[in-house]
Amino acid sequence: MAIRLGDTAPDFEAPTTEGTLRFHEWLGNKWGILFSHPKDFTPVCTTELGEVARLKPEFDKRNTKVIALSVDSVADHEKWSADIEETQGVRPNYPLIADPERRVATLYDMIHPNADNTLTVRSVFIIGPDKKVKLTLTYPASAGRNFAEILRVLDSLQLTANHSVATPVNWKDGEDVIVVPSLSDAQAREKFPKGFRTVKPYLRITPQPNK
Ligand code: BEZ
Repeated sequence: MAIRLGDTAPDFEAPTTEGTLRFHEWLGNKWGILFSHPKDFTPVCTTELGEVARLKPEFDKRNTKVIALSVDSVADHEKWSADIEETQGVRPNYPLIADPERRVATLYDMIHPNADNTLTVRSVFIIGPDKKVKLTLTYPASAGRNFAEILRVLDSLQLTANHSVATPVNWKDGEDVIVVPSLSDAQAREKFPKGFRTVKPYLRITPQPNK
């Protein structure tokens, strides 16, 4: 069954390049990003996994753990990691789940038979510390993801989880944000001491509160 925003991320136990882990226990109280890619030893995936390794300090800064999945074995993941290091200059520094029996892929609906019968699509699940799914993305095998966008939306999710704001189109960390419509002007004045600008009664802009 499809996993929807607000659902509890299904728990599982699986072998990975960092040993067998139980997903919820491994997440602890951190944010998590679970992402799948179609197959080991493929070109687009090679660039993606290198990029995630390069960005690891950015995920750490955001209290977020990353974990990848493909329907190959730990032995293949290990061999491919050496290729990733050789070609991308950085070795995956996060676990790669081995899922040759497609147990986790099926649990997370990562196989879309009308796209490919056996391989996982490029899924992304962002999971909050409450283990609820906060964001899902699905890309086809032919398009590598933009992990700068994934960091950007993670910033938005973490900000809006703690403040009564939403983020406008193309927002980036540090830019002005939108006061949520459910707050009255009086409540907004109390919550946002820096004030807000009313463009329309439903469109009120305020500086990012945690800056
Ligand atoms: C790739 O990662 O390069 C890839 C994987 C499966 C199909 C096409 C491309």
